[in-house]
Amino acid sequence: MIQPIIIDTDPGVDDAMAIAFALGHPEIELAGITTVFGNVSVNQATSNALALLESFGAPQVPVAKGAAVPLIQPPFPHPDFVHGKDGLGNIDIQPSGGRAPVSESAAQFIVDKANEYGGELTLVAIGPLTNVALALRLDPELPKKLKQLVIMGGAVDEPGNVSPVAEANFLSDPHSADIVMGSGANVVVVGLDVTHKVILTDTSLRHLRDNGGEVGKLLWDSSRFYVNYYSNIGAASGQDEPGCCMHDAAAVAYVVAPELFDVICGPARVVPEGIGAGQLTINRKGYTYLLKYWENRSPVTVCMEADDAKLIELFLQTICDAS
Ligand code: BDR
Ligand code: CA
Repeated sequence: MIQPIIIDTDPGVDDAMAIAFALGHPEIELAGITTVFGNVSVNQATSNALALLESFGAPQVPVAKGAAVPLIQPPFPHPDFVHGKDGLGNIDIQPSGGRAPVSESAAQFIVDKANEYGGELTLVAIGPLTNVALALRLDPELPKKLKQLVIMGGAVDEPGNVSPVAEANFLSDPHSADIVMGSGANVVVVGLDVTHKVILTDTSLRHLRDNGGEVGKLLWDSSRFYVNYYSNIGAASGQDEPGCCMHDAAAVAYVVAPELFDVICGPARVVPEGIGAGQLTINRKGYTYLLKYWENRSPVTVCMEADDAKLIELFLQTICDAS
């Protein structure tokens, strides 16, 4: 079965891996890319999306430019120490002249595509959730029109990567993340509880470089800066060689291989501000609490474990088979 998806993204080294994986997988149709601020500015994210699609041999995939800033809070600086100044590990690729985003906003594009695909579209959001919140504002019926909304973001039991409790995409726009968690859509969260345990080592990345054609070579080049960052902070630990977390491609993998993940379900909230800003909280046991914030919300699904070896194999094989 072919699954149409939109990727909402802030490319981003691991976003580039997610896009390559989606394009390479025979059961995924990439119906479009929407861009958002995050790892880089939205202008850079849009340029990167266009350039990546060209480099990956898919210039026909439409790109819609989205939000430049979060819904309510002021933006944080872009993390150039993680993804490089250009967001792609300083490989500095540009779209060729004539390539431009579509005229619709990202939010409008998401709404239009959801209508076009009549309940079959999955939205995979791998950046801050501002575009998704704006799309929900444009069309309150959107949750019913999407097959699934798969999100890379959040951390439940795992420590955060931008505060002890927050993951980067959720902290970048916690108000939007909370709106999306309460939207009633069929939400699946693939956050740090999973992605901190799915490590792409340099051996895996070298395999891509040597067997994944031009796509594999680009991903290897782009990953050098990112792997160096992870090596310096020791977050991709447990490995005796350099590596990086897979993050965004794990969310795309959920679309085609949900059986590789163990999940919990329950109503979820994202802390909007203060010391716990960006924290994802879930009432996984269905308890009645003194505080009522989790009441009257549809449940979301949060992935807590994954078969990391199979995920990595799926990722590598998909890109190598497609080359
Ligand atoms: C998420 O934040 C970004 O840096 C990555 O692209 C990923 O989407 C991981 O916390
Ligand atoms: Ca991302």
